[in-house]
Amino acid sequence: MKDILDTIFSRRSIRIYDRKKLDKETITNLLKAAMAAPSGSNSRPWEFVVVTDEDKINFLRSKIKYGNYNAPAIIIVCSNLAIAQNESAYKYWVQDCSAATENLLVAAAGMGLGTCWVASYPKEDVMKLLRETLGIPEDVFPLNLIYVGYPAEEKAPRTQYDETRVHWESY
Ligand SMILES: Cc1cc2nc3c(=O)[nH]c(=O)nc-3n(C[C@H](O)[C@H](O)[C@H](O)COP(=O)(O)O)c2cc1C
Repeated sequence: MKDILDTIFSRRSIRIYDRKKLDKETITNLLKAAMAAPSGSNSRPWEFVVVTDEDKINFLRSKIKYGNYNAPAIIIVCSNLAIAQNESAYKYWVQDCSAATENLLVAAAGMGLGTCWVASYPKEDVMKLLRETLGIPEDVFPLNLIYVGYPAEEKAPRTQYDETRVHWESY
């Protein structure tokens, strides 16, 4: 396991993947990392749809303009207010599900996997496609698709640190 800062800096969007498939334990570990994220009042509004079926992945790839990448698995991070622990989720589900997503991305980087966050919400056309293809109900919101697999491209780690964006003590 890499040092946590090195892991964070090494996380890059990977858009070319090896053919090697992910086993269920690996995917489950990614989901455990996602569900360890903070959420408003610990409401945990998230649900995850895991897609490894090649035909479904190829169909989604062919339909999503900025998502035509050959990952062996796609995890759709969704929000379901009906199963959230409390009403905080109405206000904070985007943040809650984004925190879960980032946990998943960083965990994947630490495990030597590549990922790419592909946008769904608030794109009505992508949400509709995901609902129709994967049977996601109307009251469940697919925030994004996380493409995941073993990387077949190399990207340099980097921080993007910019001290002009930092205001110490006051703006
Ligand atoms: C909200 C959000 C939406 C994104 N949507 C897409 C997308 O639809 N397709 C894509 O290829 N990358 C997408 N990305 C990835 C960004 O392009 C990428 O994170 C950014 O260019 C920085 O590069 P890095 O991830 O390698 O650090 C998205 C990232 C975020 C956070």
